[in-house]
Amino acid sequence: MKKNIFLIFVAIVVLIQFYPMDKPAVSKDNPNDLITTSNVPENISTMLKNACYDCHSNESTFPWYSNVAPVKWMLYGHISEAREELNFSNWNSLETDDKADLLDDISTLVLEGEMPIKGYTILHSEANLSKTDREAISTWADEMLESLYD
Ligand code: HEC
Repeated sequence: MKKNIFLIFVAIVVLIQFYPMDKPAVSKDNPNDLITTSNVPENISTMLKNACYDCHSNESTFPWYSNVAPVKWMLYGHISEAREELNFSNWNSLETDDKADLLDDISTLVLEGEMPIKGYTILHSEANLSKTDREAISTWADEMLESLYD
């Protein structure tokens, strides 16, 4: 009996792998990227790369488990949604007001610990931001917002 339940479980895990789902496209060549086009201090760009770029850029990395259903259903969905809201790879093609809105959100969400989303840091310790890191990102975002309208 136990053996049958196990086999059914294995069969389900195998079968769900065939459920089609588009993997978010990856590109390393992004001429409108924030870090490429703007003068971002190195400590900030390192933190953004480590803590945000997997979801909010075209440079997402996909470790093996991220391509296995049901994990991939959640991850692919998160990445598509995150890129729709904010994609650092397209930064320089945005309107000034949209950049301003995003910088305002970045400043608040990072300071309050809402970003990166919970769960991500469990498997990505390099995305764990200290209070000082959060304050640095928030201050950078505020200053960049101001400089947009200079
Ligand atoms: C594991 C994926 C993931 C990571 C890593 C991540 N985010 Fe997000 N982010 C999301 C998702 C999903 C959304 C959209 C849903 C939501 O708002 O919760 C989002 C939404 C946002 C928004 C709101 C955009 C808007 O104006 O509607 C901002 C700003 C943001 N993230 C900034 C960041 C910053 C800055 C980092 C790095 C410090 C980061 N995120 C790291 C997944 C992620």
